[in-house]
Amino acid sequence: MAVKMIIDTDPGIDDAMAIFYAAAAPDIELLGLTTVFGNVTTAIATRNALRLLEAAGLDLPVAHGAETPLVLPPFTPSAQVHGDEGFGDIPAAMPTGHPIDEDAADFLCRTAREHKGELVLCPIGPLTNIALALQRDPEFAQNVARIVIMGGSLNEGGNITPHAEANIYHDPHAADVVFASDAKVVMVGLDVTHRILCSTSDFTAIAAQAPELGGMLQQMSVFYLKFYESVGKFDGCSLHDPAAVIACTHPELFETRPTPLQVSCAGETSGATLAAPNSGRAPVDVCTAVQADAVKSLFINRLSLLP
Ligand code: RIB
Ligand code: CA
Repeated sequence: MAVKMIIDTDPGIDDAMAIFYAAAAPDIELLGLTTVFGNVTTAIATRNALRLLEAAGLDLPVAHGAETPLVLPPFTPSAQVHGDEGFGDIPAAMPTGHPIDEDAADFLCRTAREHKGELVLCPIGPLTNIALALQRDPEFAQNVARIVIMGGSLNEGGNITPHAEANIYHDPHAADVVFASDAKVVMVGLDVTHRILCSTSDFTAIAAQAPELGGMLQQMSVFYLKFYESVGKFDGCSLHDPAAVIACTHPELFETRPTPLQVSCAGETSGATLAAPNSGRAPVDVCTAVQADAVKSLFINRLSLLP
């Protein structure tokens, strides 16, 4: 039985990898995308989400999401990691389609209600839309089967600051709302995504098998790998977002530890995800280890099935 999934995304190069993986995966029934700021503005995220679905030949709804964090002031996305337009050096291109009229939070609430207990939500950007959905619909936490996030870090430190992973850092208040909810949450954080690396040769191999969509990812990966090298990481780029999507269908490849979490929302540690054993909060399934080779093989083998 395929997993019914919505991906909440800030595309973004590894977001594109995750979305194309979902398009190729026979065990995923993608119901739509919701967009959020983070790697790019929400306007560019929506344009890029439409563009990715059209490139993959998928006629699915895209719901435009929040344009600013819940509490923090708006910020200008850095082009350092994903480029000005979100896909490295690939120039902007206008999709033919348009987002649906509903905003992201309403689309999430309605779809979770229509697929009660079946929808797996995979946020791979800041958690603003998810927090808004939890605040708008008191039943959302129970309607959604589980929320499998790419974000956070328990013992790995941060990637945007020494303490914080980027998705949490960009909206710490939203992440704290999610961790305070009674939804079933799985955190696929840097503790595991830093172990799953893809190199230039991996993307060249994918492009050889899947010239069109694999070729797009290979082109994006050039910019992405250059950033990693610029920060001294020469072993390849982390498959952050694809890892979260794969955790939705292959949880057996991940070890988890049930851990109540809180998020630091101010000061130098803002965005840090902190174990909160005495908080009275429901535990989050925090991924602490991963069969990295198996996740990487799934990623490469399934992307190779694309056109
Ligand atoms: O820290 C990695 C995360 O931040 C990924 O989702 C990447 O796309 C960026 O959004
Ligand atoms: Ca992302």
